[in-house]
Amino acid sequence: MGIKVNKEGNIFQINTENSTYLMGIAYGKYLGHLYYGKRMEDMEGQYLLRVKEDEAGINWHRRDKITLMDSFYFEYPSWGVGDYRDPALRVRDEGGFRVCELEYEGYEIKSGKPCLEGMPATFEGGEAGQKAQTLEIILRDALLGLKVLLRYSIFEDSDAIIRSVTAINEGTQKLYLEKILSASLDMDNEDYQLFTLHGSWARERRITGRTVSEGKHIVGSLRGETSHQNQPFLALTTNGTSQTSGDVIAMNFVYSGNFIAETELDHKDGIRMSMGIHPDGFEWVLKPGASFTTPEVVMVYSSEGLGKMTRTFHSLYQNHLICSKFLHQKRPILINNWEATYFDFDDAKLLSIAKEAKKLGIEMLVMDDGWFGKRNNDESSLGDWFVNEEKLRGGVAVLAEQVHEAGLKFGIWFEPEMISPDSELYRAHPDWAIQVPGREPSMGRHQYVLDLTRQEVVDHAYESVAKILRSASIDYVKWDMNRPLADVGSFTLGAEYMGEFYHRYVLGVYQMQERLMQEFPDLLLENCSGGGARFDPGMLYYSPQIWTSDDMDPIERLTIQEGTALVYPLSTMGAHICVCPNHTVGRETSMETRANVALAGTFGYELDITKLTEEEKNEAKFFNQQYHKYHDLVREGAYYRIASYRENQRYDCWQVNSRDRQEVLVTYVQVRNEPEQRSRRIRLQGLAPRLKYQLEGTEEVYSGEMLMNAGYLQEMMYGDYRSRLLHFTAVESLN
Ligand code: GLA
Repeated sequence: MGIKVNKEGNIFQINTENSTYLMGIAYGKYLGHLYYGKRMEDMEGQYLLRVKEDEAGINWHRRDKITLMDSFYFEYPSWGVGDYRDPALRVRDEGGFRVCELEYEGYEIKSGKPCLEGMPATFEGGEAGQKAQTLEIILRDALLGLKVLLRYSIFEDSDAIIRSVTAINEGTQKLYLEKILSASLDMDNEDYQLFTLHGSWARERRITGRTVSEGKHIVGSLRGETSHQNQPFLALTTNGTSQTSGDVIAMNFVYSGNFIAETELDHKDGIRMSMGIHPDGFEWVLKPGASFTTPEVVMVYSSEGLGKMTRTFHSLYQNHLICSKFLHQKRPILINNWEATYFDFDDAKLLSIAKEAKKLGIEMLVMDDGWFGKRNNDESSLGDWFVNEEKLRGGVAVLAEQVHEAGLKFGIWFEPEMISPDSELYRAHPDWAIQVPGREPSMGRHQYVLDLTRQEVVDHAYESVAKILRSASIDYVKWDMNRPLADVGSFTLGAEYMGEFYHRYVLGVYQMQERLMQEFPDLLLENCSGGGARFDPGMLYYSPQIWTSDDMDPIERLTIQEGTALVYPLSTMGAHICVCPNHTVGRETSMETRANVALAGTFGYELDITKLTEEEKNEAKFFNQQYHKYHDLVREGAYYRIASYRENQRYDCWQVNSRDRQEVLVTYVQVRNEPEQRSRRIRLQGLAPRLKYQLEGTEEVYSGEMLMNAGYLQEMMYGDYRSRLLHFTAVESLN
């Protein structure tokens, strides 16, 4: 595979199919970054370090070390010896000194890819059994006795490079890790544009771009979870980069807690791009002999624009991250009762929905919030995971059986990390809620968060969920998390270790999800956090789908799904048909458009199906058939972004091609009609140029090259919010 070292042992080359990453050693001790870009076989890039290794250079370096440190392209920069840019590593020793100087010690090339204990990580194999290779570079600060392992893994079928870092205390004193990022990348600024993903509740992951300018641009979360507001994603692009051309360097974090993602443009027009656990509120105590490993950062380089970057992330996550056995399976069409009933339901109502749903071809009923304790609104009962017998006479097991008898699978909602002040659990264990002694904790949605840094709390929370799952035949769980963390601290961690809280919380969540996967391997898990606040690669490791947003309005969803699909596969995006008018924005749209947009993800409904008109029911039947017809293609195909409503304010369009390019599905949404316009050219991508494709339902046949270069002509449709699915199939070859 692609990892090599030159014969002098001072240059490291990591080659994926289309990219090369080079590092080199200066003055026999500093590991520097040389190059990340198009694939090359030549690795002799020492000159790119811009240092003079002769006597004059070495003398200069002694006399003016600070000038060297302040502009050298460090592979893993540390704090305290003259590099004034933001470091990847800051360590404090027992004396309170924060100086650390990492020097190169050695390397090892290993076949395979290590797992990270207690954390999600990309893995070798997947269904295709693809192989991996890992380069470990050892750095050391001899005075501190600190050893740092930089890990770079590649897979033979991917252009991504996976990075993580382990710090090992081989000294005799305690060390305090104040900051330890997973990846840092120093390079020349090439008039880069920076793309990030931002939002809020109900409008997650909007693509935002700006020109990189002097100073720092920081994106992060200090909410204890990934957040609605910011994604752990950065992409630097050269000027004029489009979906199909231009250079892109991107990072994404396999983690579900506090993160920082940063670019810093320095005084010499160099750029440092970095990502990892947010240092605010973080401090990890490293006793002699102990080690700390960071979560993984996925790095992707594309010389063919954002589209290629997207497809690299998609296939990496599909082949090497998502563990669920459902990954490559068609997911059941579900109906969720949340927006149909909110808290106002009982078994009879749910059964009436299930029976009607069955007639229309829906395959699973999901019972959302409100089935437990005395929860008739959001003011109580989180933590009391026992059934409300007034609502479900006979309990969950009986309801699950009845739903199964009606011919549907059965799913259930939990919010296992939470505790309501008005709950039996809180009355029994008030100290299990995250809080500071003597200070009234801040509520969010009337609830507190459980202290998952405590093993007995993790065990209890896990058992509450598992007990229900063991007692009834349950096919699916929606795991929600409806508020961020605040008033952070634990009664049991102790003052010295309080800086470990946020990370230990995330490890608690991961432990619960891991146990769930192990004990219930046939369970389909969908993660959720007030919509999409925990849509991240960490959660994708455990659940093959994540609820994308509480906003199901198809027009709002265009922007949300465009941003989500920039990084995450369509197979992971929870998408449902909502009621009309939409509950979040009040917009009225046709069922056809709601369905066509939802068909881009895992498909389902979130409305009271018993209240639909006969005409709407017939439409629902039709869309369910469409789902069965197209979902293999949507789930497994290659995704191309054709046009963006966010950019043009008029229409949106995306495309999915089967891997063999025999079949293509295009979704076109005309947001606004405009009078007196010619038909619109839709230039498709990734087709076989010399194949002829027939548009389903017509006699129209076009060559691949015509569709890609000249485009398909889409007529304007009468009205706003109109949409169309265009399904092309290869019929003959031109030669
Ligand atoms: C969150 C979820 C919703 C629903 C409610 C229930 O907001 O995103 O889908 O489950 O919680 O309280």
